[in-house]
Amino acid sequence: MSVLMSASEAREIEPATVNTTDEVTAFIVANLPVAPVPGIPEIRLHGARPGSGLRRVEQQSKLSPYWAYQWAGGAALARHLLDHPETVRGRTVLDLGTGSGLVAIAAAKAGANKVTAVDIDAHAIVATRLNATLNDVTIETLLADLTAGAPPEVDLITVGDLFYERRLAKRVTAFLDGCLAAGIDVLVGDPGRAHLPREKLAAVAEYRVIDFGAAGVTTPAVVFSVVAVTR
Ligand SMILES: C[S@@+](CC[C@H](N)C(=O)[O-])C[C@H]1O[C@@H](n2cnc3c(N)ncnc32)[C@H](O)[C@@H]1O
Repeated sequence: MSVLMSASEAREIEPATVNTTDEVTAFIVANLPVAPVPGIPEIRLHGARPGSGLRRVEQQSKLSPYWAYQWAGGAALARHLLDHPETVRGRTVLDLGTGSGLVAIAAAKAGANKVTAVDIDAHAIVATRLNATLNDVTIETLLADLTAGAPPEVDLITVGDLFYERRLAKRVTAFLDGCLAAGIDVLVGDPGRAHLPREKLAAVAEYRVIDFGAAGVTTPAVVFSVVAVTR
């Protein structure tokens, strides 16, 4: 991780915020049943169901438990990586805003040389570790906000559904701008959220996937290549 965190501005999150790792792990195992991801049967994840009682962990983290759900952008990106393993085979991949770890797991399954899953939510890191084990893949995890730092030393950055909020989208867009300038490839999966920097994206493929809160109903989501990102 030292390579990834070499940027002086990158904000590493205090380990103290994960002092309940064992409790969160036990909570997920006990309350979030394992099921294949709709449209991505190669991958199984722990997921929230009615009655999972997520509020109990939400109160600890103060962050929304996005890691417990499927997001259209990540689902499209994961499907794409599995269908086009040449995209990641033999490459180092960083999955920004990994949530459940779905995209990171897909990258590992598709043959990436090394995958690092990054999130600002300690519970997402716990869920990603559990889900990686469940799917028999090796993934490094990093609890950090890299968006204010220098580009990481990787070949490809994957970004699943991270343009849902204006300020976050601005930070991510600026970060990806720097990554692109540093020669890193960037793939974004998104169903068309409000703050997607569309003018800087080239569509690569479209998939019909399930989104958060839309059980059983598919929606289109696009995998984009970032061609030029500006602030
Ligand atoms: C909507 S979820 C998408 C999760 C996953 N990429 C997917 O598509 O399934 C957004 C995730 O990004 C994380 N996140 C938000 N801001 C972040 C940041 N600055 N750096 C890293 N992760 C971030 C959240 O904690 C959450 O897990």
